[in-house]
Amino acid sequence: MDKGSWRHILLLSLTLNVGLLSRVIYYERVNLSSLGTERENQRFQKFCFEENTRERKMGGGGGKDQDAHVSKSSPPTWTTRTEPEDGEHTVINLDHGDPTMFERFWQKMGDKCEIVIPGWQSMSYFSDVRNLCWFLEPEFAKQITRLHKLVGNAITEDRHIVVGTGSTQLFQAALYALSPPDASEPMSVVSAVPYYSSYPSVTNYLKSGLYKWAGDASSFNSDEPFIELVTSPNNPDGFMRLPVVNRSGGMVVHDLAYYWPMYTAITSPADHDIMLFTVSKSTGHAGIRIGWALVKDKEVAKKMTEFIVLNTIGVSKDSQLRAAKILGAVSDSCHHLGNPDDDESLFEYGRHLMAERWKRLRSAVKQSRLFSLPDFPSEFCNYVGGITETQPAFAWLKCEGGIEDCESFLRGHKILTRSGKHSGASTKYVRVSMLDRHETFDLFIERLSSIR
Ligand SMILES: Cc1ncc(COP(=O)(O)O)c(C=O)c1O
Repeated sequence: MDKGSWRHILLLSLTLNVGLLSRVIYYERVNLSSLGTERENQRFQKFCFEENTRERKMGGGGGKDQDAHVSKSSPPTWTTRTEPEDGEHTVINLDHGDPTMFERFWQKMGDKCEIVIPGWQSMSYFSDVRNLCWFLEPEFAKQITRLHKLVGNAITEDRHIVVGTGSTQLFQAALYALSPPDASEPMSVVSAVPYYSSYPSVTNYLKSGLYKWAGDASSFNSDEPFIELVTSPNNPDGFMRLPVVNRSGGMVVHDLAYYWPMYTAITSPADHDIMLFTVSKSTGHAGIRIGWALVKDKEVAKKMTEFIVLNTIGVSKDSQLRAAKILGAVSDSCHHLGNPDDDESLFEYGRHLMAERWKRLRSAVKQSRLFSLPDFPSEFCNYVGGITETQPAFAWLKCEGGIEDCESFLRGHKILTRSGKHSGASTKYVRVSMLDRHETFDLFIERLSSIR
């Protein structure tokens, strides 16, 4: 065993001891079986990911806003499943980006992604002690590289792969790795408005001495070093992005959660120092909580790994094995491999469905005259081999005319969306998920079209 491996083991045993002494177990009652109806939802506490949670009162605005990543409050009156029989009374929840749209594709794939994990497997903390990220499953690493090569959306050569419990954990690992441990002031973390609404709360919730949220990158003018978060395509508005802080002394984290062919043209392989990806938005498997980082610098990758060791002592092997199987199936389904059936390819399925949804949304918006949507350029996609449309995972919807608070306005029509204010933008805007189940999306279009 080399010196590096011994260091990993030492770090792990240290973490285990600290972990045993200091672990605080936090329970929230999540009654999954009752995720069915609105009324039932009011009865239990919720665990809320990717959310700026809000207590809402339906039908008249005036909800109490509370920016928090994890909510301990009673859940608002929303439901993840809409019930068609409720018709016009159904609350349509498009506030979060739960990618349930992909369920039908995976149902059609049948047992292609089934795995059996015997009781004796996945028992050790370690996956590969020779790897810098020693809890990374080799098969998962192999499938990540294979898929990026097939899609052409990121350079994987000479990169370290760090696996995380979702890219949410990796984003925090990157902040930890890039912030000097002994600086007198926490490092500023910025992102251009409109930014992903979780960035401020995830950056600040521990009141870290290492880094702090410093708001809009476009107006950042301090001389201090900084970290800029660049989400491309962007959540919430769908545009491709570059860093905007125009000076040296900054470090950039590229969040490429949506740089996949169903959302945008793949124009070149991304080649940045730190690139974050997630199965949540690439395959739709948000629930298995797996993300990965492609990291150029060895020391940064080591520090990110250290963060994950201190935070969760690695990442679920079961989830990694499942993610490996799923990415493998996606690669097998790529039309580049000569697969003639479009519906068998995740990216073709996703592209067609998103195109149809955007067409229907644009038509409803045009009819209503109360709303507007951004226009996107069409570009040549290397993966598809032709010009493709941009069809983002979220619609950045603007209320026109005298409507100042678009979120409240839509809430009055029982459509839950996320106000632009959580992205640092105007309340005239809302973010609407385009990734929900078919029935929810159909109901949304119907409801939106009826608003006059
Ligand atoms: C830009 C962006 N990054 C990261 C995430 C979170 O990904 P994960 O589910 O892997 O934590 C999301 C989820 O909506 C996102 O939109």
